[in-house]
Amino acid sequence: MKAIEIRNKYLNFFKKHGHAVIPSASLIPENDPSVLFTTAGMQPLVPYLLGEKHPEGTRLTDYQKCLRTNDIDEVGDNRHLTYFEMLGNWSLGDYFKDESIKMSFEFLTKELNIPVEKLSVTCFAGDEDCPKDEVSANAWRKAGIPEDHIYFYGKDDNWWIAGEEGPCGPDTEMFYDTGKPACGPDCQPSCDCGKYVEIWNNVFMEYFKDSNGNYSKLKQRNVDTGLGLERMTMLLQGKETPFDTEIFEPVMKQIENLQKVDNIQSRRIIAEHLRASIMVTSDGGRPSNIDRGYILRRLIRRMIRHMNKLGIDLSELANLIDLNIDTLNELYPELEKNRETIKSVIIEEKDKFVKTIAHGEREFNKEIQKLKEQGKNEISGEVAFKLYDTYGFPPEVTQELAEENGMTIDLKKFDELFKAHQEKSKMGSDQKFKGGLAEQNEKTIAYHTATHLLHQALRTVLGDHVKQSGSNITEERLRFDFTHPQKMTKEEIQKVEDLVNEQIKRDLPVTCEEMSYEDAKNSGAIGLFTDKYGDRVKVYTIGDFSKEICGGPHVTHTGDMGTFKIKKEESSSSGVRRIKAVLIK
Ligand code: ALA
Repeated sequence: MKAIEIRNKYLNFFKKHGHAVIPSASLIPENDPSVLFTTAGMQPLVPYLLGEKHPEGTRLTDYQKCLRTNDIDEVGDNRHLTYFEMLGNWSLGDYFKDESIKMSFEFLTKELNIPVEKLSVTCFAGDEDCPKDEVSANAWRKAGIPEDHIYFYGKDDNWWIAGEEGPCGPDTEMFYDTGKPACGPDCQPSCDCGKYVEIWNNVFMEYFKDSNGNYSKLKQRNVDTGLGLERMTMLLQGKETPFDTEIFEPVMKQIENLQKVDNIQSRRIIAEHLRASIMVTSDGGRPSNIDRGYILRRLIRRMIRHMNKLGIDLSELANLIDLNIDTLNELYPELEKNRETIKSVIIEEKDKFVKTIAHGEREFNKEIQKLKEQGKNEISGEVAFKLYDTYGFPPEVTQELAEENGMTIDLKKFDELFKAHQEKSKMGSDQKFKGGLAEQNEKTIAYHTATHLLHQALRTVLGDHVKQSGSNITEERLRFDFTHPQKMTKEEIQKVEDLVNEQIKRDLPVTCEEMSYEDAKNSGAIGLFTDKYGDRVKVYTIGDFSKEICGGPHVTHTGDMGTFKIKKEESSSSGVRRIKAVLIK
């Protein structure tokens, strides 16, 4: 079965069971500065898991584009991916364990025709925060999973939370037996030998973990599930790795045709990072030196490095991107309209990197010269790390160049610095996740409403050509990007600020209505990124002033928001201006 068929079967199956099919959210979270990328299907749904009403109802299903970067350095082995697609279904306070398990079992055995004996499941063993999950185990028994294929594990294995705090709960995981021999008498789903592969995770989200590590019950009992499409495709096709499926195969083959040196890990890294870079760029990501831009930069540069390693002419990159977009077209038709942008962004980054390497080499040669004059033959760990960190110089290239010059590198020191750096960036991204949408609080909610007021005020003062092109909210400020061809004058800034403050003073009620996307558009509601909406949307109206399609949440009245002050108006990119503003209480 091809990936697209698995996806279609999944969505149709859950549709048949009363779920609304909602579109994949962008890989780049909107209005959520606290996470780098969408890493799970539940992430864009956090407000609804916490109790906000979803316009499409209480049963949802989708495929979600995801990017996880924790294991970026593992890519190249036979299983790790950064970009992947997660199929998911949700109950927002609707069905719970019994029905969820019944549906999963039916989908696996009837729709995908997986023989029951190939399945094993794991359930939560229980601890002081939450009892043993006998309900799930019983549901599996009832479905037909034999007793010796049911396992119980603790929080490490059978508890799911995105990051450190937020909605969470015990989960039940489904494993597929690949038929490989057991690694020993104790071989079981939790072991890493490759016999058992996790295929689906159903999380029973009825708890909230706060920043102090305490658990409380959520308003409603939710189900959040995730099934990795690439992995399922690989298993159903009896392939050893996702790289052997139609998702990667054409690109893998072409890399093999172009290579002058053979290296399977490098081929996988190129194919994986190329696909991830295409998906991120298509959703609006651009390479830079910080946060998500830096991740994209790393993906592209690591790919280029491995193209160099295989002796592939870098001018082939454009063709490889074309081929990859053609391959992915079936799953992501939206790539087609972004084809030229994707190509130019990735190729421009390649050109920058080629120049950077040239700089790095000059720096390296200077260093070698210095060492030679001093009669030394060891390059310090600090210098090797600087070449890596500042010049984007891959450590193995430094090593190769050192050898050519009869020098060695203090690898111990380099590794130390490298590990510390990795630790720091890991902490950074954990930290990013920690906040999540779960941290919506009074302040960020007020900034969200202020963003709507600002959007409308800009349109009133500058004209209807003003469209939101980005938004970023923290507890301290809002940042709003919008289309406008020139710098705003002082008078315009003042007018916009006054207009927003006037609406706050009027203490306007904020109301929410659900309607079809068509009706929302016809009602004059402003909205952005049209293709991300489902059939039914929420429209937030602020008195007689603003009407905008949005997921919420918002304040109920504008009166208590504080005084609105624009701190900065500057260029964001060509034709796009950026405003930073605060609410002062
Ligand atoms: N959110 C759950 C996961 O990512 C389903 O595994």
